[in-house]
Amino acid sequence: MQKEFKEKQQLAQEIVYSFLPQEEGLQKSCLMAMNYSVKAPGKRLRPLLMMETYRMFHGEFPNKVLEHFMAALEFIHTYSLVHDDLPAMDNDEYRRGRKTTHIVYGHAMGILAGDALLNYAYETAIGSLFEPLADAERIGMAMKVLSEKAGIFGMVGGQVVDVENEGNPLSMEQLDFIYRLKTSALLECAMMIGAILAGATKKQVDEIEAIARNIGIAFQIQDDILDITSTTEVLGKPVGSDEKNQKMTYAVLKGVEQSAKDVEKLSRQAVEKLHEMKLEDEFVSELLLSLIHRKK
Ligand code: IPE
Ligand code: IPE
Ligand code: MG
Ligand code: MG
Ligand code: MG
Repeated sequence: MQKEFKEKQQLAQEIVYSFLPQEEGLQKSCLMAMNYSVKAPGKRLRPLLMMETYRMFHGEFPNKVLEHFMAALEFIHTYSLVHDDLPAMDNDEYRRGRKTTHIVYGHAMGILAGDALLNYAYETAIGSLFEPLADAERIGMAMKVLSEKAGIFGMVGGQVVDVENEGNPLSMEQLDFIYRLKTSALLECAMMIGAILAGATKKQVDEIEAIARNIGIAFQIQDDILDITSTTEVLGKPVGSDEKNQKMTYAVLKGVEQSAKDVEKLSRQAVEKLHEMKLEDEFVSELLLSLIHRKK
């Protein structure tokens, strides 16, 4: 599993890198900041999950259209991290084991590199239309999911409610709303686009969305646990960021021990639902279960 995971992660990363822009022209500093942010060692979980969901629905490989969307989603995820770390948001100086983009390139370039990555993601995704064998209908559906899950009704919406409530006590319902949007939305996006590009039915895509929602909530709860229990060296980003920003998290509300149990429960439920969909897949099941005990 470990070896297969590393190989697939590497493949997903190579695909993402193949779409990075050249660092040239008068806007070179921003292009460098974009590439710096993407090339910092992230887990590449979203493009990996997109590729694996596509495979679970018997999509054919290689598929250039899929590759465009894998890169586009990692660009959007990376921009969300660059902006999340800005002084006006979580104000963090480390990310993926390196200094954050705004620390290295300055605050203005942190904002602009994030903007540019977001836009470049759509340039990359729409470029899939010009690949031989492109299916315009599937690409259209995938573009709709990509744009909605990234936006005000998805990730950005979750970030809004997250920052607005710093210092406030939150109910379980409010926390669930925040996690569903700020974190689940991009994981839903990954798995739904994988399914759509492989030709899944509307019903199957809806089911995948519900499964990915649980995976995302478990993923964010684990992120909150690690913010309390890990170290900066292992995590590659500052620990204690949530406490510093007076963020009420699931791990604070329920305690670390109960939260860990809930991560396990949500992850096992997701794996079970994949089985119910007759999408038995050893690699994906093991990947999802390995996230329960992830250290970074
Ligand atoms: C971090 O996501 C932000 C959250 C949604 C918790 P990841 O933990 O996937 O970050 P990278 O891509 O591996 O750096
Ligand atoms: C943010 O959650 C998720 C995003 C949409 C970027 P966090 O603020 O907890 O993510 P980290 O811990 O900085 O990666
Ligand atoms: Mg944040
Ligand atoms: Mg943060
Ligand atoms: Mg966090």
